[in-house]
Amino acid sequence: MTSDDRYQHVPVIWGSLGTIFGVVVVLLATAVAALVTDPTAFEDGEIVVLSGRDDSIGGQRQALIDQWNALHPDNRARIVELSELADAQRSEMLARAQSGRGEIDVYNLDVTWTAEFAEAGHIKKLDEPRPQTDGFLDGPLATCRYHGSLWALPFNTDVGLLFYRSDLVPHPPATWEQLEADVQRVREETGNAVDGYAGQLADYEGLTVTALEAMWGAGGSVVDDEGEVVDGAPFQAAMAGLGRLRAIAPAGVPALDETESLSLFRSGRALFMRNWPVAYRSLTQDAEGGSPLQIGVAPLPGQLDVLPGKGVLGGQNLAVSALSTRPRAAQALIEFLTSERSQQLLFERGGLPATREVVYFDQGVRDNHPYTETLRDAIDDARLRPVEPHYARFSEVFRAAVEGYLRRGTEIPDGFPEQLAHALQGRSAPPGEG
Ligand code: GLC
Repeated sequence: MTSDDRYQHVPVIWGSLGTIFGVVVVLLATAVAALVTDPTAFEDGEIVVLSGRDDSIGGQRQALIDQWNALHPDNRARIVELSELADAQRSEMLARAQSGRGEIDVYNLDVTWTAEFAEAGHIKKLDEPRPQTDGFLDGPLATCRYHGSLWALPFNTDVGLLFYRSDLVPHPPATWEQLEADVQRVREETGNAVDGYAGQLADYEGLTVTALEAMWGAGGSVVDDEGEVVDGAPFQAAMAGLGRLRAIAPAGVPALDETESLSLFRSGRALFMRNWPVAYRSLTQDAEGGSPLQIGVAPLPGQLDVLPGKGVLGGQNLAVSALSTRPRAAQALIEFLTSERSQQLLFERGGLPATREVVYFDQGVRDNHPYTETLRDAIDDARLRPVEPHYARFSEVFRAAVEGYLRRGTEIPDGFPEQLAHALQGRSAPPGEG
């Protein structure tokens, strides 16, 4: 190699070193950037959950939030609690969503609003990352889906159950005919001191639920499983069920919500009560030391001793707000609140029905809560209200007529099925009827 050759190599060596240095710098910068914008890292800040009242015994939802906060000091969560009534909760949640202010991260939605919030773009699909859904009960999980996508995870499920005075009714009625006969018998035996079936009969979502169950119990319906409004024989049977509800309601058809139905039943003045499972825990384990009454719990009656009764499948679903600035943290909170452990605590301590199947198989749970199997069967047999974005409008039109019929003796209007069909489509009334 000549001296000229050596001098010619110097720039080549410097050039190579420069290239290596450049590559190292780029790699380092990429690694640092990846650390800063880790696509799976939680965004900092408080997670705000908008929810209806915590009906669990001993505030178990808040207890879980406290656990989350201890584990996630950078993403503490806070529940903003709304009214106890479903309709008022919906109005407030919609108003906040429509305000566009983005102050809410998680909505705790009634199962009947999931479609509405999804359709309106107020909530975000749960697809990045996709949560694990194995192990949830099918019915509650189905209420989280709309148009094939997953929009929420089920926080607690719910189903209509029959509570009865076991001192006056030795065996729970298997059919609605038997239930009506029990009501008549006990009215006569007690001179009307113990009277009727205390459903949720006030003018709000609870009345829609109570009336639908009475209609299904007569083999009728007003909407089929595809959300199409029915007419003809099923509709006539539904009207017969409504007639029976008027006959078995306590005298004067009192305007009761869930809490008031429970008070009436607890006072010993109602023979039967239709309510959600949490009522069972509060009747048997409340702070006042439980009910002095002898009570039993059973599925709602069915038909002709053959078909099981069908309660409405209720419950609440947790969804991430489309405007949340911390969607990953919000989704992680939702996964925590719907995990097997959280679901077991909510059921065992709080009386809110779990959405995870394993909880119902847990021997400890079954030993301590003998009604676990009754509850599980009722959930499996339960039926959904229409899964439609305009469900709330449907429910308003439906119960306006039902309320008039039950409490004021007005007839169900002609063209009721058509009115319901229009309401489900988001229209106010059939053409020509204003
Ligand atoms: C319960 C149910 C819910 C239902 C409401 C009616 O909260 O979980 O699905 O709509 O009661 O009052």
